[in-house]
Amino acid sequence: MALSKKEMSAVLIGDNIKIFACPHCGESVILHQSKSLVCTNNHSFDLAKQGYVNMLTHSVTSMYDQSLFEARKTVIDAMLYHQMYEVIVEKLQALGDIIHVLDTGCGEGTHLYKIQQQFDGELIASGIDIAKEGIQAAAKNYSSAIWIVGDLAKSPYASQSFDAILNILSPANYGEFKRISKDGGKIIKVVPQSGYLKELRELYYANSDKEDYSNDKTVARFQENFDDVVIERVTLTQKLAPELVPLLVHMTPMGWHQEQQIDAKQLPQITIDLDILIGTVKK
Ligand SMILES: C[S@@+](CC[C@H](N)C(=O)[O-])C[C@H]1O[C@@H](n2cnc3c(N)ncnc32)[C@H](O)[C@@H]1O
Ligand SMILES: [Zn+2]
Repeated sequence: MALSKKEMSAVLIGDNIKIFACPHCGESVILHQSKSLVCTNNHSFDLAKQGYVNMLTHSVTSMYDQSLFEARKTVIDAMLYHQMYEVIVEKLQALGDIIHVLDTGCGEGTHLYKIQQQFDGELIASGIDIAKEGIQAAAKNYSSAIWIVGDLAKSPYASQSFDAILNILSPANYGEFKRISKDGGKIIKVVPQSGYLKELRELYYANSDKEDYSNDKTVARFQENFDDVVIERVTLTQKLAPELVPLLVHMTPMGWHQEQQIDAKQLPQITIDLDILIGTVKK
């Protein structure tokens, strides 16, 4: 009989239990009866039947709902990001054949899944996001990774667990990244460059200051925190299928506070322009 989502998740977690630490007390955890993660102080986190674990230590109200993650998945599936995967996979490939990778702020998980698929070897993939709706979508669509609802500020991972940490268009926590990374591990952070979604921004912010975008401060902070930093830029302008336009508007923070409706004809193409920052953790 085929394994359920929960059973598949339990197998993955059991095989990799060493990457976890209790987010309450920092102690090690065991997998108890394939049902829950339990630490030596008896803090316990149940596997959900959908195949993920909620390891939040406090309740949070997310800005993101299920429809936003569905919109993101459809747009991301349209492969606007394939150049980004190529760069990231190339960097990961240099780390070895069997590697532990954590995607921080993974959302609905499609980026991590595609990266895992393209990796030649065994990429043991973990994704964490504070939004339960994102992790639920990830667990529903992809059973090949360990999906955790959790807060990067109180992450449920043991020190020195990961060969690489991804942080794609998401807030970072460099203190935690350094702690949970292995010595010599890579931090790969993706940030928007000046042309990112520029056609959409032009429609919203024509003639206003907000049209310009700079990531200088983010790059400077990254360079202060990590060694041997290299930056690779990926830029691509693609035709945009009309049905993707409302989804793109919905998934983009710019769209949230706007009254203005965007017609698909106003957005025949869209630009993806990203900086991929790659740094090394030296302990
Ligand atoms: C703009 S979305 C990007 C999601 C995904 N990486 C992508 O590119 O599609 C930012 C994500 O960061 C998550 N996030 C924000 N603060 C977080 C925190 N403290 N811990 C974990 N995830 C967080 C949000 O819930 C959201 O899913
Ligand atoms: Zn504990």
